[in-house]
Parts: sequence; C-alpha cells; structure tokens
Amino acid sequence: MTISSLTLRGFRNYSTADLSFEPGVTILTGDNGSGKTNLLEAIHLLADGRSFRTARDERLVKNGEPGYYVKGVFISDNGDERRVEVSSFDKVKRVAVDGKEVRTRREIIGRFLAVVFLPADVSLIDGEPSRRRDFFNMLISNVDAAYLAALVEYYGVLKHRNAALKVQSPDYTVFDDRLAELGYFIIERANAYAEIIARSMNDSFTALFGTAGGYAIRYENGAGDITSADSFAARLKAQAGRDVKMRTTSIGPQRGDFRLFAHDTEIRHFSSQGEKRLAAVIMNIARQSVIARERNERPILLIDDALLELDAPRRARVLDYMKDRGQMFITVTDVSRAGGVSGTVIDVPVITGLLPRII
Ligand SMILES: Nc1ncnc2c1ncn2[C@@H]1O[C@H](COP(=O)(O)OP(=O)(O)OP(=O)(O)O)[C@@H](O)[C@H]1O
Ligand SMILES: [Mg+2]
Repeated sequence: MTISSLTLRGFRNYSTADLSFEPGVTILTGDNGSGKTNLLEAIHLLADGRSFRTARDERLVKNGEPGYYVKGVFISDNGDERRVEVSSFDKVKRVAVDGKEVRTRREIIGRFLAVVFLPADVSLIDGEPSRRRDFFNMLISNVDAAYLAALVEYYGVLKHRNAALKVQSPDYTVFDDRLAELGYFIIERANAYAEIIARSMNDSFTALFGTAGGYAIRYENGAGDITSADSFAARLKAQAGRDVKMRTTSIGPQRGDFRLFAHDTEIRHFSSQGEKRLAAVIMNIARQSVIARERNERPILLIDDALLELDAPRRARVLDYMKDRGQMFITVTDVSRAGGVSGTVIDVPVITGLLPRII
C-alpha cells in the first residue's frame, strides 16, 4: 500500500499544504519544529482514524483555526485507489472513504495499513502492560476482523458487568457466559499471535544481523490456567466473591500482558537501554511483516526521527533492511542523518509567524 498525495488544511502547524509522494523512500527533512512529525501524524490519522500522539482531536486543529481537514489517496498493492478524508469542525469528527461517510472507527481499521516507529516505542518493552495489549490488539485487529468484533463486544459486556458490580447488583452474573466466551476467544488469538510475532522477530533479527535474536513472548492471559470458555466461566464464578468485594471484574484479558524474553531473560528487567530500543524496533518490524503476510498488503512505514535511538551501525542496517519492505517515510533534521538510505527528499520549511501573538 502507498499514499500518493496528502492535503492538509488547518492541521497542526499547517494552514495549507498539498504534497505528493513516490512509492519508495521519502525523507522528510527540516529543522526542529518544522512539522515533519506532523506529516507522519496526518498519514497515520488517515490510515488508522486517530493520531499516535494524542486522543484529543482538538489538539490537531491549528491554533486559531475553526477545524482541520486532511485528505489522502491510498493505492493498494493490487492498484485499487481510495480517497480518505478526515475532518474535525465544531468538535465533530468525520471520516469518509471515497466520499462516503464512515460511522465508526471500526469500519476503517484494517483497510488502510500503516505502521509507525517512534522514539518512545521503547515503552512497548518497559512500559505498562496496556501498551503491549494495545499493540497486539491493533495488530490482530488489522489482520482478523473477528478478533476486532470480539474485542469490541468483550469490552462492552465487561463494562456492563462492572457497572452492575459497582452498584452491588446481583445481575452481574448474567454477563458471565458471554464474557467467558468472548474472553476465551481473545485469549486464544492473543496466545497464537504472541508466538507468531516472536517468530517473526527472530526471522528479522537473523536477516539483519546474521545471529539468533533468541526472542520469545510469553502471554499471560489475566485469567490464569484456563483451557476453554467453560473453564473461564467457572473461574469467573469462583472469583465472584472477590469481584463483589472489589466492585470490578478481577480476571480476564483486560489484565493480560505479553512478556518479552531474549535468550531466556526478560528484556524489561535485564537488557540494556539499547537492547530494549532494538527489541521495540524489531517488534514493530514484525508487526509490519505479519500484517503484510496475512493481508497480502504491505503497510506503509512511518519512521519518526529515523531510528536515532539506535547506534549508527544498527540504525543504518535496519533502515537499509526496511527500505525495500514497502513505501517508507522517515523524518530527520538533515539528510546526512538518514543512515545512508536514499530517496525522495522533501524539505519541510519552518513556517513562521503563524502562531497567535500574545500582546
Ligand atoms: N495545534 C497546533 N497549532 C499550531 N501549531 C502546532 C499545533 N500542534 C503542534 N504545532 C506546532 O507544530 C510544530 C511542528 O511540530 P513537529 O512535531 O511536526 O516538528 P518536527 O519537524 O517533527 O520537529 P522535531 O525535529 O523537533 O521532531 C511545533 O512547533 C508545534 O508547536
Ligand atoms: Mg519530530
């Protein structure tokens, strides 16, 4: 998949911008604050329906403007062209594909594929479990619509059950069977993908460096030793006393985690900062590989700050490896820092005088 053009109105620091892109590597250069990451953010917004920096849409609106409008044309690997538009005016966000409005974000998840690499991705390794759950939930949802549907329903049912527990209503038990059914389905898929991602990480590591990465991912399902939806339901019943006391559901994939190991030691506890950063990058490469393989469609690569968190030789190696894996955008202050990768250079000028003046 590629994006061939991008139109911005009132988005972040851009009043108006119209760009077109080539299918290969695009290097976005420019001084700090010129708006490079904002361009990646706009592409991500179109592909995924949301920013990777904020859940607050109003922050995307250029200061002093009434709203934003972003448009992009995506071309899938088989040549199909789709126009995606996202706008937000008066706090009403709208998404449209080929001029037809999309009602929920769920309808666009998995249709336009982009994988973003951010310097902060190391939090995938050493951050909260919710980071890793989100990573896997998004990844699996991109390749499996049934998983996305189960996830949405699971969290809906969980919300009802927790609401009943909160007001100490005995009705919470009516949700148990459905919760267990959906929860078990989610757990099984998560388990499978933990293994698929670890295998893909090892493949990439070996292709990159010629040695074994020794990665393994252990999925902890948040529900303990369960082997079926029935045993999940039985555990829910066994935990009922505790749930009533805590006024919330204490077991299930919403409490799950994906623990990452390299050569049998847990990365978050034992690896160096550089090794953690590399593991996070490789996890994202695996994400792109697995989506590309399962969807037969290569996600666009959005690489912020050109992997400057890695040391120079690794950075050059990884960028070189990724450049042939689909359309790739990298941001960097100066083209000399692009790790030797060549491509179309778009110089993002610093736009001055646009912020409202405080008198
Ligand atoms: N809603 C907004 N309205 C106006 N300007 C904004 C808004 N949000 C962000 N900006 C400005 O956009 C500018 C560019 O941000 P961006 O993060 O894209 O820079 P960058 O080129 O990636 O810089 P760096 O090299 O430091 O990463 C910043 O100066 C920021 O203040
Ligand atoms: Mg930036």
